[in-house]
Amino acid sequence: PSAVGLTTGNAPLPDFPQLRTCPYQPPPGYRDLRLAEGPVVRARLYDGRPTWVVLGHAVARELLVDPRLSSDWGRPDFPSPSPRRKAIQKATMLIGMDQPEHSAYRRRVIPSFSVRRTRELGESIHRRAGELVDALLEQGPPAEILRGLALPLSSHTICGILGVPYEDHAYFEEQSAMLVASHASEEDATGALTNLRDFLVSLVDRKEKEPEPGEGLLDTLVHKDLAEGSLSREEVIALGIILLMAGHETTASMITLSTFTLLQHPGQLEAFRADPDAAGPAVEELLRYLSIGDVAMRIAAEDITVGDVRIEAGDSVMLSAAEINRDPEAFEDPDVLDLGRGARHHLAFGYGVHQCIGQNLARAQLRSALTLLFSRIPGLRLAVPAEEVEIKPAQSGVQGIYELPVAW
Ligand code: HEM
Repeated sequence: PSAVGLTTGNAPLPDFPQLRTCPYQPPPGYRDLRLAEGPVVRARLYDGRPTWVVLGHAVARELLVDPRLSSDWGRPDFPSPSPRRKAIQKATMLIGMDQPEHSAYRRRVIPSFSVRRTRELGESIHRRAGELVDALLEQGPPAEILRGLALPLSSHTICGILGVPYEDHAYFEEQSAMLVASHASEEDATGALTNLRDFLVSLVDRKEKEPEPGEGLLDTLVHKDLAEGSLSREEVIALGIILLMAGHETTASMITLSTFTLLQHPGQLEAFRADPDAAGPAVEELLRYLSIGDVAMRIAAEDITVGDVRIEAGDSVMLSAAEINRDPEAFEDPDVLDLGRGARHHLAFGYGVHQCIGQNLARAQLRSALTLLFSRIPGLRLAVPAEEVEIKPAQSGVQGIYELPVAW
């Protein structure tokens, strides 16, 4: 049945979130809803709770800077798109906070993610990406992009920034993977969050005992903020958890899905290979097109009117970046992947006070990974039919694919 009829009369509301049927396209049901009902529609969450779903670019930008829309995950009535996300929402640091608390924490970590700091790190990110691509070449085909390139690059990068020993990567990758795994129950996700917390507790303990601080952000937080008493141990641990969690899964997924998408668009790939200077805009377009951080969650703290929609205090509001970034009023021919588009007003990193802290870092990794992969392995191709590449289900949080087998 078309989604149109589903929301009228007493018919059940459509589900949110919905499944992608192609790894790089938004769920088709969102388009039906936007065309039938406009940029803000009604839907139903997994637990039966009704929600507003924002699908239009202009309304999303208006709402994401509206302080009446709260990100306070600590509220008992804060909505969740899946049981697994409900568990993660216990980690409220930064992303699950409102002002002024949010800014107070964000201020302390932002210098480690600035444009300047990322530029300084660019060379080592590029070197690491090169080593990983060379290792793939040396090992010979077939290879797998997520585990062979994307995940080691993103984990290594965030470890360097935070001062987490890279030797521990397998452990925290496993816990983070469980946190975003679609099959994870609320208990699984809670267990993984506890493990991640224990990991940070012992790391903070170790750092406190080191006579000289290392160069990572956690070293600064331990030896300065914790030592001065301006942050508690719990706060340092919570900052470590969110940064470690947000820092690698997203970027790894974006590198893997970008590789797949480029291989599926040979004309665009040829242009990408021909002009390494165009990698910046190309990455921006891939971010818009793929929008892997698809669901932003909010709750109305007060009544809000947007257009002809009245959102009442206590209502759930979910924003779908994937559909928002395909809004024809914001992007010409939005469904066309056009690496030369040069549009930077997409919402793939969110908008407003919660806009992604790691966006410069993610861009640098994407640029290096994709340019080196396609220049050093010019014959790169999928090792399985495209239809066999398995898509993560709708509720996985970070959109993506489980693995990407390639050959050359
Ligand atoms: C916030 C996407 C990489 C850390 C966000 C938000 C989005 C997003 C959409 C806003 C969520 C909201 O408004 O509720 C992405 C994508 C990435 C990526 C698509 C990769 C391509 C990273 C990296 C880090 C990071 C590398 C590094 C630590 C964070 C943090 C927040 C955030 C801490 C919360 C910021 C706040 O609330 O002030 N990200 N992210 N992300 N991201 Fe990213």
